[in-house]
Amino acid sequence: MALRQRALKTIFVEIAAFMTETDFVPSAYLEEKEAGSTVWKAPSNIALVKYWGKKENQIPANPSVSFTLQASCTETRLEYTRLEKESPDFSFDLLFEGAPKESFKPKISTFLSRVENYLPFLRKYHFTIETSNSFPHSSGIASSASGMAALALCLMDLEKELDPKMEMDFFYRKASFLARLGSGSACRSIKGGIVQWGRHKDIENSSDLYGIPYPYPVHPVFEQYHDTILLVHEGEKQVSSTLGHDLMHNHPFAKQRFEQAGKNLKALQPVFTDGNLVEFISLVESEALSLHAMMMSSMPYFMLMKPNTLEIINKIWEYRNASKTHVCFTLDAGANVHVLYPENEKDQVLQFIKDELVAYCQNGQYICDRIGFGAKKL
Ligand code: PMV
Repeated sequence: MALRQRALKTIFVEIAAFMTETDFVPSAYLEEKEAGSTVWKAPSNIALVKYWGKKENQIPANPSVSFTLQASCTETRLEYTRLEKESPDFSFDLLFEGAPKESFKPKISTFLSRVENYLPFLRKYHFTIETSNSFPHSSGIASSASGMAALALCLMDLEKELDPKMEMDFFYRKASFLARLGSGSACRSIKGGIVQWGRHKDIENSSDLYGIPYPYPVHPVFEQYHDTILLVHEGEKQVSSTLGHDLMHNHPFAKQRFEQAGKNLKALQPVFTDGNLVEFISLVESEALSLHAMMMSSMPYFMLMKPNTLEIINKIWEYRNASKTHVCFTLDAGANVHVLYPENEKDQVLQFIKDELVAYCQNGQYICDRIGFGAKKL
């Protein structure tokens, strides 16, 4: 029996490893559904090895890995009613924080057209999408990862009604696959803990098409890691991530950067297993600064860090040297700073943040987040 189970597991793992786009195109649905609704809450994530640069269809130029967050999330309610006849356009209303939001609709339409091939029912329904974030919209925290993940999960929920025999493993993998087509990093916002996305020869079952729960042993220190997000600059970014990714085409350091990301991911493997925080810090901070170095050396060049971003980084370095704690920083595509630290240093580091870093935040705003458990149906 054990042997048979192991053989089945091997087959399943191999199937998962070789999944292609066509595996996500459904065959005819067995069930019909007139109307219904579903609500999903999906978290944001913070990359440790950064995705920056992509090929067509949101295929990443390099693999990445992230911590799934807990507090920063999007909650989306999807209501659906079957139309009498298929609509030539996607038929949907969009409410953001309780009020209609026309300006978000083009992004949703683009997403729906990208996933239509994989969800052939989309034109058969009218949808009402109601969405809200746990963090302020102007905070500079990208809501695209959590937002696209929550919407992808809602749509998968409807697909599961049409195909009730769908396995939950497939459900989550396809949700990640769809979320990626909305916003690349959104594919890392379905499952909890550490999530890896992008083919890497040394990471079993890794795929460019969807994120996977990190498949190797993880030291308990990483089960309860903290991420205090310092909101340095509110408002629209000067350069969108879409444009930033594009600037990696013909970037003079693109090849070296993509190789560096792959090497850093491999170097993190023993770090995740052994809990070596000194090594963790140098890989994570180097990744953050390499990401911003790519922005500064693009043509046209740009800079998303603000003076206060640098003040905070320098304070963290000073404090880490003096206190011998393991606090470190990472950055996403913006000026905000993610301050990472282990559970056993929580009180001390949080005090340092309040005493010395909050002064550099816009309106003193920060969010106490931590590694989380992944998306949830409400
Ligand atoms: O998912 P996008 O297209 O918004 O790009 C995200 C890029 C970074 O946040 C800078 C890095 C990452 O891996 O999340």
